[in-house]
Amino acid sequence: MTDWKRKDLLGLQELEASEINLILDAANSFKEISTRPVKKVPTLRGKTIVLFFFEPSTRTRFSFELAAKRLSADTLSINTSSSSIVKGESLKDTFKNIEAMQVDIVILRHSSSGVCQVLANCVSPSIINAGDGCHEHPTQGLLDIFTMRDKKGRIKGLKVSIIGDIAHSRVARSNIWGLKKLGAEVTVCGPRTLLPLDIEQLGVKVTTSLAEALRDADVINILRIQSERQKAGLFPSLREYAIQFGITKDKLLKFAKQDVLIMHPGPLNRGVEITPDVADGSYSVILDQVTNGLAVRMAVLYLLSQGRTELVVER
Ligand code: CP
Repeated sequence: MTDWKRKDLLGLQELEASEINLILDAANSFKEISTRPVKKVPTLRGKTIVLFFFEPSTRTRFSFELAAKRLSADTLSINTSSSSIVKGESLKDTFKNIEAMQVDIVILRHSSSGVCQVLANCVSPSIINAGDGCHEHPTQGLLDIFTMRDKKGRIKGLKVSIIGDIAHSRVARSNIWGLKKLGAEVTVCGPRTLLPLDIEQLGVKVTTSLAEALRDADVINILRIQSERQKAGLFPSLREYAIQFGITKDKLLKFAKQDVLIMHPGPLNRGVEITPDVADGSYSVILDQVTNGLAVRMAVLYLLSQGRTELVVER
């Protein structure tokens, strides 16, 4: 089943299209396990996986932990505030200590872009980037692409519009890298102050017109305003943002295709970037994304363990 060669998963920028497809195909196989009465297989028995989250998380943290448990790995969550980092220990020293305990995989979320790469270069456990600053969130990109492929049957030629705070979004970057590698046409849309100046270099179409971004899109991926990563004053107010760029049912009926998919990585700010009738409406696949995220993370954990474990998906 596998031909995975990498120690770490740091971003979709560095992956070949064939590697992305390998993960998506593996996730398809793993999805069925969570529908069984006994949702557990011995694939990663004997492996130890550490979750290290320096920023809040619901979906990514729970789904990685659940994925590891469903594959029978031993898991350990390190709480940043109760680790020795608060006593002044460096992140590198902390990871060297984790390495000395023969941990197999560390899943890391951190506010600094590039920190996963730095640590991956100096310790032997596999490092999975669970979101690093504004850089990448590769498993979110993969689960978004998996959901698009699952619902639309293809990625090549698909028109995907990403709406919102592109400048501060690691989800946008992972989506763009992955979708472009698989042949999708990507448009990004938001206030000019929330669009990086060099974003065209990633091969995307850029617009500040919401109507233009909605028209012809097969998929609309809506992003939250990343207030925790922004300087103040990038747009007049959340109310103004909601009026101009918030996705409402009226705007979808006016501009979007009838079979458009509405996606959002979460957490939702209802009434700002998306109205409740859109989030919970018939176009929305937001909770399918969460379900698929579990399968994608099972696939990633399995593939990174390749070479140390034979695939055992027993009924
Ligand atoms: N999409 C996402 O990363 O959600 P969490 O911050 O809850 O993990």
